[in-house]
Amino acid sequence: QKAPPHPDPGNHHHPQVTTNLKLIARDLDKILHHYEKGNPEKLYTGRGPSTESMHVGHLLPFMFTKWMQEAFQCPLVIQISDDEKYFYQKTDKKIKPLEYFRKIGVENCKDILALGFDPELTFIFRNSDYVGTMYKNIVEFQRHITYNQIRGIFGLDSLNGSENSGKIAYPAIQGVPCLCTSFPHIFGEKKNGFCMVPAGVDQDPYFRMTRDIAHKLKFIKPGGIYSRFLPGLKGYNSKMSSSDETSAVFLTDTPKQIKKKINKYAFSGGRATAEEQREFGADLTVDVSYAYLKYFMEDDERLRQIGEDYASGKMLTGEVKKILIDELQKLVKSHQTRRSSITEEMVHQFMKIRPLFK
Ligand code: TRP
Repeated sequence: QKAPPHPDPGNHHHPQVTTNLKLIARDLDKILHHYEKGNPEKLYTGRGPSTESMHVGHLLPFMFTKWMQEAFQCPLVIQISDDEKYFYQKTDKKIKPLEYFRKIGVENCKDILALGFDPELTFIFRNSDYVGTMYKNIVEFQRHITYNQIRGIFGLDSLNGSENSGKIAYPAIQGVPCLCTSFPHIFGEKKNGFCMVPAGVDQDPYFRMTRDIAHKLKFIKPGGIYSRFLPGLKGYNSKMSSSDETSAVFLTDTPKQIKKKINKYAFSGGRATAEEQREFGADLTVDVSYAYLKYFMEDDERLRQIGEDYASGKMLTGEVKKILIDELQKLVKSHQTRRSSITEEMVHQFMKIRPLFK
C-alpha cells in the first residue's frame, strides 16, 4: 500500500479564523502518526440539509474529505443533521416540518455521493434515524457540559431565552460522532480511537467543545482540518447564499448560466481600463475569479503563471474569467453527470447499518 502524500502538518492549537491560509488544522500530524503505525482511524464530516440548491462552495470540504479517504483508506462517517436545520430555520417564514429536512438530506447525499465515496468505507447517517445508537454518548456529553458553556460557545442569547431548546441540545449530537463507540457496527468493542474531522471552518466551535469534553470523559481529542470559505461572487465581503442566484455558482447551473454569472458578477481586482491594467496590473487580494482558480485549478504551475501575469498586467480580467468559466463549466458538468446516476436506493445503501471493511 502506497503511503499517502503528506499534507502540511501545521498544528495550530488555536486556529485564527482570520488567517490567510486555505486550511486550518488541529492535530493533523496525529493522523499521520496513526497511519504510519498501521492503525486505521476514522474520518468524520457532515452536512446540514438546509436547502436543495447546493453551490460549489458546499462541495469543497467533501472534495477534501474524499481525498483524505483515498489517502488513508479508513472508515468515514457522514452526519446529516436534519434535526439541526429544523431547529435553526428562519422563524420569520413559514416553519418547515422535520420531514422536509429529512428529504433534503437525501437529496444532498446524492450530491455528496457524486464525488465518489467508497461504499466499503463510508457510512452516512441521518440524525433523526440514527440518534438512538449514539444516545449513551449524547447523555454523557449533555451531563458534562453546562448550559452556560453552550450559550457562550454558540451565542444563543439574541432572543432572550425564547429560542427553541433544540438549539441547546443539538451541539452534543454533532460532537458524539467523534467517538468510535457511537458506531458499534463499525468499530465493535473498540473503546477509543483517533478521529479526524474535515469541515468548513465555521464548524470549529462544535469540535472545540468536543475536545474540552474529551478530557473529562477520557477519550482521545478529535483533530480537525478546516477549509476556509470561498468568497461570494460579488467580492470578499460578500457571502455565497443559497437564496441569492447571483452570489454563487450552483451545482445545477448550465454552462450558459456559469458564463453569464462569472462575466457579470465576479468581482474584479483588475483596473478600470485595459491601458491601466497593462500599466498597473490587477490586485489579486480582492479578485474573486483568481480566488476561485486557487481552489479549482488543479495545475499549480499554471495557476502561478496566471497570478503572475494578471498581477503584472500582462493578462486582463476577461482572460482570467474565461479560464475560470472553462474550469467551472467542466467541474459542474461532470458533477451533474455523476449525480444523475445516483439513486435514492444508493443513498439508503450507504445509510444501512453494516460493518465497514476493506
Ligand atoms: N453543522 C453542519 C452544518 O451546518 C453540519 C454538520 C453536522 C457537520 N456534523 C458535521 C459539518 C461534522 C462538519 C462536520 O452544515
